[in-house]
Amino acid sequence: MNNKVLVTGAAGFIGSHVCDHLVNAGYNVIALDDLSGGFEDNVNTAATFINGSITNVDLVNQLFASHRFEYVFHLAAYAAEASAILYAGLIIPIILLAASTLLMLP
Ligand SMILES: NC(=O)c1ccc[n+]([C@@H]2O[C@H](COP(=O)([O-])OP(=O)(O)OC[C@H]3O[C@@H](n4cnc5c(N)ncnc54)[C@H](O)[C@@H]3O)[C@@H](O)[C@H]2O)c1
Repeated sequence: MNNKVLVTGAAGFIGSHVCDHLVNAGYNVIALDDLSGGFEDNVNTAATFINGSITNVDLVNQLFASHRFEYVFHLAAYAAEASAILYAGLIIPIILLAASTLLMLP
C-alpha cells in the first residue's frame, strides 16, 4: 500500500482535523495550504507542510510528480459562505481554476 495522502486546505478547520486523523492512522500526509484563511500551527507536526496555493499549476504538478498519492482530500476553500457572494468575481475563478488543475492531473 502507498500511504501518501495530499490534503489541501490543511491549515483550516476541517483540513487540520483530517490531517490529524490521517497521521494517527499511519498515513504520510502532505499538507498544502496558502494560509489565506488558516494557520500553520493548526497543521499536525508529523505532516509535511507546503505553503502554496492550489491555483499554482506548477506547484501542484510538481507535488504530483514527486509523490504518488493514494488519496487527495480537497478542502482548500474560501469558507465564508455568507460574504462569498460579494466576492464571487474573485472566488469563483479560484474554485474553478483549482478544480481544473486537480482534475487535469494525470
Ligand atoms: N466548517 C464547517 O462546519 C463546514 C461544514 C460543511 C462544509 N464545509 C466546507 O469544508 C471546506 C473547508 O471548510 P473549513 O471550515 O475547514 O474552512 P477554513 O477556512 O477553516 O479552511 C480552508 C483552508 O483553505 C485554505 N485555502 C484557501 N484558499 C486556498 C488556496 N487557493 N490554496 C491553498 N489553500 C487555500 C485556507 O488558508 C484555509 O486554511 C469548505 O469548502 C467548507 O465550505 C465546512
